[in-house]
Amino acid sequence: MSTYETMSFHLETERLVLRPWAQSDAAELRALHSERGKGTPTAEYTRTLIAKQLTATATTGIALLPIQRRDEGDFIGYCGLIIGRSTLEEPEIAYELFQRTHGRGYATEAARAVLDAAMATGRKRLWSTVGTWNTPSLRVLEKLGFERDHVSTEDSGEVVWLTRSLP
Ligand SMILES: CC(C)(COP(=O)(O)OP(=O)(O)OC[C@H]1O[C@@H](n2cnc3c(N)ncnc32)[C@H](O)[C@@H]1OP(=O)(O)O)[C@@H](O)C(=O)NCCC(=O)NCCS
Repeated sequence: MSTYETMSFHLETERLVLRPWAQSDAAELRALHSERGKGTPTAEYTRTLIAKQLTATATTGIALLPIQRRDEGDFIGYCGLIIGRSTLEEPEIAYELFQRTHGRGYATEAARAVLDAAMATGRKRLWSTVGTWNTPSLRVLEKLGFERDHVSTEDSGEVVWLTRSLP
């Protein structure tokens, strides 16, 4: 068992609300995944993914959370913590937002709230792994105070590992 507190699953920022997944998010999540440019996953795949995330969160106490804009009330993406390539003790921060919302500071704003939530669980360090090509994501992490640790090579290309201590 983890010795860390469960992460808060309701986070609020100036412009955004992060809250738990609902099955009603499936259509939007599917549309978001289709922006990856590798086709659109089936509705069944996306529904199962949401169910799996809720199950994983019940076990791990960490989560990716849908991001909603306060004013518009719309789903614009997700941000949160995952084990990913790292560990439950030092998880990864992750985010993905609809293209139409990029460049307005939303990812940075959501990720700041997730950093605070991670700190509140008692964790001392976070990681993020990002393709070397992904300038926007690297910039978000730089703004959040992450520092480059090392680079690994995968079939898909080079991956930068960045880390941030939580004082
Ligand atoms: C990464 C991502 C979440 C960023 O979301 P966002 O809301 O646009 O991020 P922000 O607006 O908070 O910050 C983006 C920063 O990158 C900068 N940026 C964007 N494109 C850039 C480019 N081509 N070259 C240099 N800087 C760039 C922006 O100017 C901004 O920095 P600034 O505040 O100094 O101007 C978004 O691009 C995304 O969803 N990408 C697809 C999924 C993904 O790659 N997720 C991360 C996997 S590790």
